[in-house]
Amino acid sequence: MKRAWWKESVVYQVYPRSFCDMSGDGIGDLNGITSKLDYLKELGVDVIWLSPIYKSPNDDMGYDISDYEDIMTEFGTMEDFDRMLKAAHERGLKIVMDLVVNHTSDEHAWFIESRISRDNPKRDYYIWRDPKDGHEPNNWGSHFSGPAWQFDEKTGQYYLHLFSKKQPDLNWDNPKVRDEVFGMMNRWCEKGIDGFRMDVISLISKPEGLPDMSLDADGFGNRDMVANGPHVHEYLKEMRSRVLSKYDLMTVGETAGVTLDEAKKYASSEGTELNMVFQFEHVGLDGNKELGVKWSTRKLPLVPLKKNLTKWQNGLDQVAWNSLYFCNHDQPRIVSRLGDDSEQYRERSAKCIATCLHMMQGTPYVYQGEELGMTNYPWKDVSQFRDIQMINAMDQLPGQVGILKEELFPMVACKGRDNARTPMQWDDSENAGFTRGTPWIVVNPNYTKVNAKEQLSREDSVFHYYQKLIALRHSSDLIVYGHYQLLLEDDPDLYVYKRTLKAGEIEGGTGRDGRAADGPKQDRELIVVCNLSGNERTFELPEEFKDGKVLIQNIEAHNISDGRLAPYEAYVVER
Ligand code: GLC
Repeated sequence: MKRAWWKESVVYQVYPRSFCDMSGDGIGDLNGITSKLDYLKELGVDVIWLSPIYKSPNDDMGYDISDYEDIMTEFGTMEDFDRMLKAAHERGLKIVMDLVVNHTSDEHAWFIESRISRDNPKRDYYIWRDPKDGHEPNNWGSHFSGPAWQFDEKTGQYYLHLFSKKQPDLNWDNPKVRDEVFGMMNRWCEKGIDGFRMDVISLISKPEGLPDMSLDADGFGNRDMVANGPHVHEYLKEMRSRVLSKYDLMTVGETAGVTLDEAKKYASSEGTELNMVFQFEHVGLDGNKELGVKWSTRKLPLVPLKKNLTKWQNGLDQVAWNSLYFCNHDQPRIVSRLGDDSEQYRERSAKCIATCLHMMQGTPYVYQGEELGMTNYPWKDVSQFRDIQMINAMDQLPGQVGILKEELFPMVACKGRDNARTPMQWDDSENAGFTRGTPWIVVNPNYTKVNAKEQLSREDSVFHYYQKLIALRHSSDLIVYGHYQLLLEDDPDLYVYKRTLKAGEIEGGTGRDGRAADGPKQDRELIVVCNLSGNERTFELPEEFKDGKVLIQNIEAHNISDGRLAPYEAYVVER
């Protein structure tokens, strides 16, 4: 095992649109982020991943980029960015940028040229095809409902868009496209950024000949079959040699449709492509099997969740590196999804879930508000939705899969991405202290109780618990690098696992504080015990841990040797 700073770091994701608005237009901005750097420093994270801040018409909230080298008007200016980067670096915080290069906006200069004529020099920057029997060139569906092809009257061809029709897919098989992307990345690296989170990077190489795929429930070709295409690893290796290898970066690939075997290639310890990937299997477990869509009102089922995370923990150990996440801007809030967001158990279950995730092997990601135990929003009506995926699903899915709108609504409300996108809850003043203007999306009414100011003032808050988990990781090679072993595999309530690290297992590499030291001098072991249910349970600590040290527990001063576990209780013992 080799040390690396990005293995020992904790990442915090900022969704700039909903983080902090300084200008008063109701939309978060870069100056807002700069103003909250001290808050993040206090939490103790090392790296900030910024969702896209580039120029964009915001069809998909910044994931549709019209200029990679300019800042979104609503977010500020390049001077604001430079100031933010400098202020972050002064505090020892690193900045990782979102890199969205599977597609651009249809308002990007390349696409505007590309659509002018069939012989335009930029035509081949995108994926254009003739109609097939007067229809779409194949059966692929967009991730945002409907076909993945849009007909363009002017030149009589279709272009491919795996997301919205305002997000045409780039043609990575064209070497000029790769030159453009790598050039742009190098310029950002020269500015001093610290890494990239690569949006749907598993989709950049399309299957040879763009064949029809077997059908998903909504009548379109299976979306996962479009992932991990024939040249993706070749293109990432090229990216490594032409960009990534020249800088000391952290890279994480968002890899829709990734399997364990594919992840071993993307995130190999050999360092040939990326540092780590985001896999999606565990956050798909509460999907709607009957309808074949992600929309459902189910909770994340614990036994399959344990099985899945265990597969990833053990499967990547030594050969690659895991990213650890439950939340991001595309996922509903985890305390509502896996815990209990009622007043009684919101805080305790948020801490229990955090313990469960943060004690695993990999690099943990905290999504804004997760450290406060922010919850899903109580949606009343479609008119409150801002997310294109939720809006399109409500619009198109009832006709496609034969479900009534009234039946679908609670499912979209429960799993929709806007749950993560309501404004960060800073304090109990109007609009949760997010803006003095009119917020672009509803503010969760629970901000009067759930907010950063209140939690900073209270020692036993969710915020301070996250702070402690992060500090523990920073002080422990066992937590960062240790091997993982699941116990009580089939228990429907308890998530219990061990971590072990032998003396001498860590050799070489450089850690987050520049440390090149070897790992522990003795074998080390800890046990993580989480009751992820509302039931009272018992759990007898294995003999060897009985005299161990409690590293953290979410019910202060509870004597764990009595073998009783309260609802959502969690603790960690090291021996
Ligand atoms: C990724 C992003 C998501 C976006 C999509 C298209 O999945 O996380 O927000 O809609 O890619 O760019």
